[in-house]
Amino acid sequence: MEWKKISVKDLTQNVFQMIGDEWMLVTAEKDGKVNTMTASWGALGIMWGKTVATAYLRPQRYTKEFVDASETFTLSFFGGAQKKAMGLLGSVSGRDEADKIEKSGLHVTKIDGHPTFEEASLVLVCRKLYVQEMKPECFLHQEEIEKWYPDSDFHWMYMAEITDAYVTER
Ligand SMILES: Cc1cc2nc3c(=O)[nH]c(=O)nc-3n(C[C@H](O)[C@H](O)[C@H](O)COP(=O)(O)O)c2cc1C
Repeated sequence: MEWKKISVKDLTQNVFQMIGDEWMLVTAEKDGKVNTMTASWGALGIMWGKTVATAYLRPQRYTKEFVDASETFTLSFFGGAQKKAMGLLGSVSGRDEADKIEKSGLHVTKIDGHPTFEEASLVLVCRKLYVQEMKPECFLHQEEIEKWYPDSDFHWMYMAEITDAYVTER
């Protein structure tokens, strides 16, 4: 399997479906160990004249420790495939089950030293630019807080420059 580098501006997929319906894996490395989690909330766009990706991680995610420890993380997309694996990676924490990736059946690989998965069809390499915890006083409508944060575990936003994008040539 070969990775082909593309310009992220050449992507033709619908971002709302890619993230919201097909989901993605947020993956990073810390001390030589890789962890990943499923995410269906996020954004792709432009900021500070750069192509950026934003991921939203709740504070209790083990993956957050990996993303915090690394300058970069990857977003891996599977084009609607691997939903079962992503269901597992999105319901089991690597903090509790060290071999959750192995159990998912996906295979870690590296692109330019960045951890992702052999099975991915699109990989975005993301260099962190801006990290901020969402604050309750910044919400304009109480209903979001009541619905999504009964435990006050407000998301942290990670806005990152997409430094490289790769697709698989199968
Ligand atoms: C479809 C789906 C989407 C998810 N989206 C997010 C998300 O955007 N942000 C988040 O913090 N957790 C999200 N989760 C939950 C994490 O993936 C889940 O808690 C995971 O087990 C965390 O693993 P970790 O503790 O090893 O990092 C999602 C879970 C699923 C199944």
